[in-house]
Amino acid sequence: MSEQFSAEQFFAQQPPPPRLQEHLDAVQVFVESNLRQGRRVVLVTSGGTTVPLEHNVVRFLDNFSAGTRGASSAEHFLRSGRYAVIFLHRQHSLQPFSRHYSHSTNPFLDLLDVVEGDHSATPECAGAQTVGKGKAPEMPPPQDGHLFPPIPAMHSPPTSPPSRTVPLDGVLGAPPPPPPPPARGEADDVSIQIRPQNLAPMLSLLRSYKLVQHLGLLQSIPFVTVSEYLWLLRGISRVMGQTRDQEGKALGRRGMYYLAAAVSDFFIPYTKMSEHKIQSGKGSLVIEMDQVPKVLKTMVDEWSNEGFIVSFKLETDPSILIPKARGALERYGHQIVVGNLLDTRKHEVVFVRREGEEWLRIPADAADKGSRGEVVKEIEEDIIEHLVTLHDRYVEGAGV
Ligand code: PMT
Repeated sequence: MSEQFSAEQFFAQQPPPPRLQEHLDAVQVFVESNLRQGRRVVLVTSGGTTVPLEHNVVRFLDNFSAGTRGASSAEHFLRSGRYAVIFLHRQHSLQPFSRHYSHSTNPFLDLLDVVEGDHSATPECAGAQTVGKGKAPEMPPPQDGHLFPPIPAMHSPPTSPPSRTVPLDGVLGAPPPPPPPPARGEADDVSIQIRPQNLAPMLSLLRSYKLVQHLGLLQSIPFVTVSEYLWLLRGISRVMGQTRDQEGKALGRRGMYYLAAAVSDFFIPYTKMSEHKIQSGKGSLVIEMDQVPKVLKTMVDEWSNEGFIVSFKLETDPSILIPKARGALERYGHQIVVGNLLDTRKHEVVFVRREGEEWLRIPADAADKGSRGEVVKEIEEDIIEHLVTLHDRYVEGAGV
């Protein structure tokens, strides 16, 4: 028999993710530090949740979301200079900044060259030679019977960024930290060079990324399953709701919750899940799933302490988009539902508020231009600009 869980029953039955407290402690420090510096804090949720079918998980249900909306939105919030961002994202989905070098659309290694010889000169100058450029491909001599040597491990960056106390003033106009030294190969006469046409955009991106790190404006937390997502959503919302500044004033209305994650509607409760890999050979597989409780109402009433809540509504049938969005707004009592359709979500969305609806559109081909190396117009830029204006009004005490 399928069951209907309340949010409380769900949390009583589903075990918390392993590093929950560690993440929440880090969020607490992050929110306090940014609040002290006069910034607002936005929680951006991004990517799709999974539903595992087994405890020792081999199979799971997933959805289409790559986290494009969330990663892009996080960047635009940061760019505004007014928000610190908690980025709650599906593990391995797109991330702010690094998304521009996604392995499928813009492979990072294709932007680089190996330069042999005198690398103080550009490869075009005498003494330097760009490997693999302008020459017919040659088969290198085999090394121990292999085409190339084993790939050495990369050095991971430290897990937590250094502590910082840089003031907000002129966030995006502040001088960037000095660039890291150029990467060098094992041999002294080999270097890695960014192809000249990629240098300017990469430098600009790298500077923005380093600045955000330096100022401590971005805290990323991964989830995989719907259960992990909901535990983290509850924990982070409570921390944001309860944190106070030095004058004892809560983040309250200055907090924003931007819920762009694609959250599973059905799941298999922990107690009903198969321990081991489900075996084949017994004919068809029939799975019964229970409904995931909707947590938005509890978030509004109990967790977020009057924070500004923006939920997303995804549909494929245009005729039900606005009625469903309006229904969510009435049922949960939050501030805005941003409606989008699967096929057109990259170039049009509708803001549904109590006082009416408003479409936001960009030219349909604008989002495709990036793959051709042109300047990209992202709809998230306009979404965030509009939301910041509405949030300003909300913070001042006006309705939305
Ligand atoms: O990642 P992209 O490819 O860029 O795609 C972006 C997107 C289409 C996923 C995004 O724009 C979007 O629409 N996200 C919300 C999709 C969704 O899960 O809709 P929903 O109807 O299931 O949920 C509506 C809202 O309720 C969501 O904000 C969700 O966070 C919230 N919810 C959902 C389930 C649940 N148990 N509790 C919730 O509070």
